[in-house]
Amino acid sequence: MDRLLRAGTAADAEISLLVKEEGVDAVLDALVDEVLYRASVPANPEPVHIALDVTHDAEARRVVFRCVGGERIVRAEGEAPVEICRELGMTLTHLVRRIYGRPDQRRTGDFSDVFLPARPDDLSRLPGLVVATSLASGALMNGLTIPRDDLGALCSSSGSDKWASFHWYTGHYEREFAPYRDEPVRILEIGIGGFDGDLGGGSLRMWKRYFHRGQIFGLDLFDKSALNEPRLTALVCDQSDPAALAALAREHGPFDIVIDDGSHENQHVRISFDALFPFVRPGGLYVIEDMQTAYIPRMGGTEGPSAGPDTSIGLIKRLVDDLHYHEHSPAVAPTVTQRDVVGVRAYRNIAFVEKGTNGEVGIPPWMDDAAWAALGAHTPTE
Ligand SMILES: C[S@@+](CC[C@H](N)C(=O)[O-])C[C@H]1O[C@@H](n2cnc3c(N)ncnc32)[C@H](O)[C@@H]1O
Repeated sequence: MDRLLRAGTAADAEISLLVKEEGVDAVLDALVDEVLYRASVPANPEPVHIALDVTHDAEARRVVFRCVGGERIVRAEGEAPVEICRELGMTLTHLVRRIYGRPDQRRTGDFSDVFLPARPDDLSRLPGLVVATSLASGALMNGLTIPRDDLGALCSSSGSDKWASFHWYTGHYEREFAPYRDEPVRILEIGIGGFDGDLGGGSLRMWKRYFHRGQIFGLDLFDKSALNEPRLTALVCDQSDPAALAALAREHGPFDIVIDDGSHENQHVRISFDALFPFVRPGGLYVIEDMQTAYIPRMGGTEGPSAGPDTSIGLIKRLVDDLHYHEHSPAVAPTVTQRDVVGVRAYRNIAFVEKGTNGEVGIPPWMDDAAWAALGAHTPTE
């Protein structure tokens, strides 16, 4: 899956190598799964079958999609010969790019199209067939396109509470995650959600749709592996167990983005950050939600207007200090966060910590008053 997700922006030769090693059928099956996942529910009044003819070098395959109004589109397997209302043709390379490429890649002239290839015996059916075929084709083409729904809409349709509940996070996420949206990212979210027999997984589904080339991992105290599907994996782990977190990250990471939406206990937030931040890729983000618990004593928070050092907000305040470690005196060897945190952006209840190389040259520690005077400058504090 990793290679296929990356192939969307790879050269023809790399796609060919992937197909040679994995086989046409395995690659096509994975792509068709994704097409079916992305396709919208059609509204055609009568059932329609659409064929997708895919070629790769001398090999050719036909996939037939069964489109019934009000139901999800499915692959027609082993059915008796059916009336094909539309024939789409595409190379496997173009199909890979359509599904796992970037949205700014050209999306015209990469497929052939025959509308109603056979004349119906009964021409009175023609008006109905034209309408049904058009409606079904539109829904299927949504599966052959890179989706661009905004996170607010995705949040509502996926069942996550990150927007329009007690929280208004998706605007911040849109702004922070935009540079990663079209990349083959690995995302880990702590806390899958769901209670009273509900499996949860709302935000994992939202991230899977938003990051169309992303592999989404969630961890929770409870087994939610029934949610597993291509590009979405639910794992069991306690976020207060650093050894278990590290083992999970060694197996499934490193991650481009880690999101903590778990217990929101301040001690757990700190343990998880210490354990997982080392497994965030340089250039990636570590996100902490629901930082209001830093002011709730029963969740390990503190009373009063300034959250204590052992809270999630205490962590964020310390990271701002760490950003400036070059200016600390006396100078000591940098900690992991002093060395690797390059950005700390806090909004109401949520913070984004950016990883990188905190190596911009600061003022040399030996610059005393005499050195400033020799420069003919004032000290920065004057
Ligand atoms: C707020 S819900 C997550 C909601 C989900 N991220 C969403 O937006 O749809 C919090 C989840 O954290 C899980 N959780 C609580 N304590 C945990 C712990 N110590 N380790 C891992 N998960 C925990 C709960 O079981 C619950 O599913």
